[in-house]
Amino acid sequence: MTGKKIRVKAPATVSNLSCGFDVIGLALGEPYDIVELELTETGSIEIEEIRGCETLSRDPGKNVVGAVLKAVAAAAGGLTGFRAVLEKGIRPGSGIGSSGASAAAAAYAAGRLLDDRFSLNDLVRFAMEGERLVSGSPHADNAAPSLLGGITLIRSYDPLDIVQLHIPRELWCVIIHPEAEIRTSVARGLLDTHIPLGTAVRQWGNLAGLVAGLYREDYELIGRSLVDFVAEPKRAGLISGFCDLKEAALKNGALGAGISGSGPSVFALCRGRDTAAEVMKGMSDTMVSLGTAFDAYMSPVSRKGAEEW
Ligand code: HSE
Repeated sequence: MTGKKIRVKAPATVSNLSCGFDVIGLALGEPYDIVELELTETGSIEIEEIRGCETLSRDPGKNVVGAVLKAVAAAAGGLTGFRAVLEKGIRPGSGIGSSGASAAAAAYAAGRLLDDRFSLNDLVRFAMEGERLVSGSPHADNAAPSLLGGITLIRSYDPLDIVQLHIPRELWCVIIHPEAEIRTSVARGLLDTHIPLGTAVRQWGNLAGLVAGLYREDYELIGRSLVDFVAEPKRAGLISGFCDLKEAALKNGALGAGISGSGPSVFALCRGRDTAAEVMKGMSDTMVSLGTAFDAYMSPVSRKGAEEW
């Protein structure tokens, strides 16, 4: 039925969590993107308006939402078309899953308008097309938690196998978003495509430790595991003051800290709201002394992913 409309929000996310490049991510309570979507029978994709961001293109061939809706329309067949309005609450290039949230909102909205005919894995696959467009790589570690909520592990991309992980009750996340933009494609270009075996051993030891720590609600183990031997050493130089920020987080009681996604946002995981508040203050003071404009957020892991709004 054409003319059906829906309004969906999808949250920002933290991907990689230091040790899980491209395979793990968590949903935050805020900020979020909103997609308003109408089903049409034109067979075409139209992005009518983008609110909250002047730099994104409305050309469906150049926009995350367009790429996702194109994939959904192709899978649906016939003359399926969509008209979309995108409301950006998450700044592009921020490192907290801006494209992933737009993609997740678009995929979820389209799935609902098409009477839930697609599985959640299908929706993640559609959302990955948005990531492919903007970064050249169809990773799911932002789109999956934004769609599904909670902490998600992409155990395998082929076949796609997504595992929802346990959320420790007292786990909080602090985000410092310096006013700068890093293109994911650029940050990915800095990474080695081959990793020495010894480095890989240390990295997968930490990822396994993080997952075990989540299930055991062992905050010390979570903290010990938040170490990145793969991406952080290559990307830290893109974020001015990164070492100071990380030090401020740890000094104020964070379990661990690192680059959120491909940056420039820096995340810290904390036990409890009070510690998160201290950590956010310590990291914010560091930003003030560096003289860089920034936004700061703190949030428990959100169980909610994309939802009607
Ligand atoms: N895992 C991806 C990366 C997330 O680090 O490149 C970027 O959004």
